[in-house]
Amino acid sequence: ATERTLVIVKPDGVARNLVGEVLRRVEAKGYSIVALELRTADTDLLARHYAEHEDKPFFASLVEFMVSGPVVAAIVEGHGVIEGFRSLAGSTKPTSAAPGTIRGDLGREWGSAVVQNIVHGSDSPESAAREIGLWFPAL
Ligand code: CMP
Repeated sequence: ATERTLVIVKPDGVARNLVGEVLRRVEAKGYSIVALELRTADTDLLARHYAEHEDKPFFASLVEFMVSGPVVAAIVEGHGVIEGFRSLAGSTKPTSAAPGTIRGDLGREWGSAVVQNIVHGSDSPESAAREIGLWFPAL
């Protein structure tokens, strides 16, 4: 079915000028960008976005990383886009993500406490609805 997902180009992706490359891959796959915004998020939004990770050891550094610079948030629409974008993104760790994926082709891993992996994509229809409501409350 046609569905919507929240895609975020994280601060590492924006800092490395990979916004166009990520959006190009999304569009080349046939998905549509239906909302798009560059902004620096605040800690409150990120804490709510990553609420499911609040007990993880990397939570504080994850939030700190995500507010460290501008991100690009997008609502992306298409048939099966939630699973499809996660396939485009590749697995969480850039060092083990498959070549051909965003993280596999472009991701690096530094000695940081948080995995800097260029993009975020919602992991389920429930997460997508919740995250779209947080980042684009008017939509
Ligand atoms: P994301 O898909 O945005 O969802 C949670 C994020 O936490 C993930 O991408 C990574 O950036 C980060 N992350 C996940 N697992 C770890 C880990 N084991 N150590 C540090 N950061 C992690």
